[in-house]
Amino acid sequence: MSLTPRMDILSRDRHDFTTSLLNQTEQPDEPFGYQTRHLKNIAILGPGGNVGSAIITELLKDGSRFNITAITRQTSSYTLPPDSNITHKTVDYTSASALEDAFRGQDAVVNCVTGGVTQYDPSKLIIDAAVAVGVDFFFANERLPESFVGAKARIREYLEELGKKGKITWVSLNGGPFFDMWLMKGPAGFDVANRRARIYGTGNNPLRWTPLPTIALAAVNMLRNPEPIINRSIYICPLLKITQNILLGTLESVLDTKFTIEYIDVKKINENAKNALERGEPMKAMKGLAVSNQFYEGDGGNDFSHLVENDVVGVQIMAVEDAVRDAIKRYEEDYKAVEGMYKVEPCEV
Ligand SMILES: NC(=O)c1ccc[n+]([C@@H]2O[C@H](COP(=O)([O-])OP(=O)(O)OC[C@H]3O[C@@H](n4cnc5c(N)ncnc54)[C@H](OP(=O)(O)O)[C@@H]3O)[C@@H](O)[C@H]2O)c1
Repeated sequence: MSLTPRMDILSRDRHDFTTSLLNQTEQPDEPFGYQTRHLKNIAILGPGGNVGSAIITELLKDGSRFNITAITRQTSSYTLPPDSNITHKTVDYTSASALEDAFRGQDAVVNCVTGGVTQYDPSKLIIDAAVAVGVDFFFANERLPESFVGAKARIREYLEELGKKGKITWVSLNGGPFFDMWLMKGPAGFDVANRRARIYGTGNNPLRWTPLPTIALAAVNMLRNPEPIINRSIYICPLLKITQNILLGTLESVLDTKFTIEYIDVKKINENAKNALERGEPMKAMKGLAVSNQFYEGDGGNDFSHLVENDVVGVQIMAVEDAVRDAIKRYEEDYKAVEGMYKVEPCEV
C-alpha cells in the first residue's frame, strides 16, 4: 500500500495546524469578542524527569512566549537549563497551602511527576490546589491503561467530574510506551550494546509507540493551541507499522550487524502475571503484564489506533528507520540495556 495519499493529508493538516498556531501567536484574542484561551504561565511539576525535561526543551523553542515555572520537591537536585529564564520553586507536595502558593498566577499546571507515585490522594491534593487558586488548565500525567500501577484511572474520573462542573479544564496525552526508552533500555527486548534480542512469542504483534521528543512536541502543541483538545485525552501514534520483528530487522540494518536471538514464551509470562495479580500481588505481576500487554496477541491491550488524533496536535508520521536512528543517536549504540528491564521471565506463582 502506498503511503503517499495519507502523507499528503497529514502534511496538509500540519500546514493548517502550524498556520493556526502562527495566527494565534500574533493575535491571541480574536478581534470580535470571542476569547481564545491563551496559556502563558506554565508550571511544570517534575521538570528534571524524562517527560518534564523533554517538555521544557520544546517550550523553550518558543522564546518568551511562555513563562515557565519549574516546581520540584524540596529534596530535589534539579538544576535549571543554562541561559533560560525559568523560575524554580520548591514545594511540599503534602501541603495544600504550599501547593496553592506555588500555583498562584499560573495558567496551566503540567504534571510530570514520576508514574509510580501517582496515587489518588496526593494527586487530588495537587488538582484541588490548582482549582483553589483558579488555574485554568491541568495537564494530567498518564498513560492509560495503567490501572495496576498508581491510580491514574481514578484521577482521570475526578478530572472529568471537575471539567464537567467547569472548575478546571483538563487534558492528557497518550502515545503508548516511549519508543526510544523502550528500544534502548531493554523492555522492547533488545540489548543494543551486546547485539542481543529476546523475541516474545511471534514477534509480530503490532506496537503503538511514540518517541519522547514527539510526546513533548504534541504536549506543547496542546499548550500552544488548547481549544481543540480541552477536557479530553489525546492519543497519538507517529509510527504506522512496527512489531518486534520489524524493529529487529531495522536495528540489524541500521547497525549493519546480526543480533543473537532468544525466543521467549510470552503466553507463560502472561499467565503467571495474571495469576499473581489475582492473588493480590501487583508488584510481582507488573513486568509480565507490561510485556504481554505489548507483545502477546492472545491478551494484548495496546491497540488504541482507533483513537489516534495526530493531526489535531501536529504530529507527523515518521519512518521506523528514522525513529531507530534517532534513538541510537540519543543513547549511543553501545548503550547497555538495563538487565531487569531486558530480561523479563514468567514471575513465580
Ligand atoms: N509511556 C511510557 O513509556 C512512559 C515511560 C516513562 C514515564 N511515563 C509516564 O510519564 C510520566 C512522567 O514520567 P517520567 O519518566 O518523566 O518521571 P521520572 O523521570 O521518573 O520522574 C520525574 C520527576 O518526578 C519527581 N518525583 C519523583 N518522586 C517523587 C515523589 N515521591 N513525589 C513528587 N515528585 C516526585 C522528581 O522530581 P524532583 O525530585 O525534581 O521533584 C523526578 O524528576 C509518568 O506519569 C509516567 O508514568 C510513561
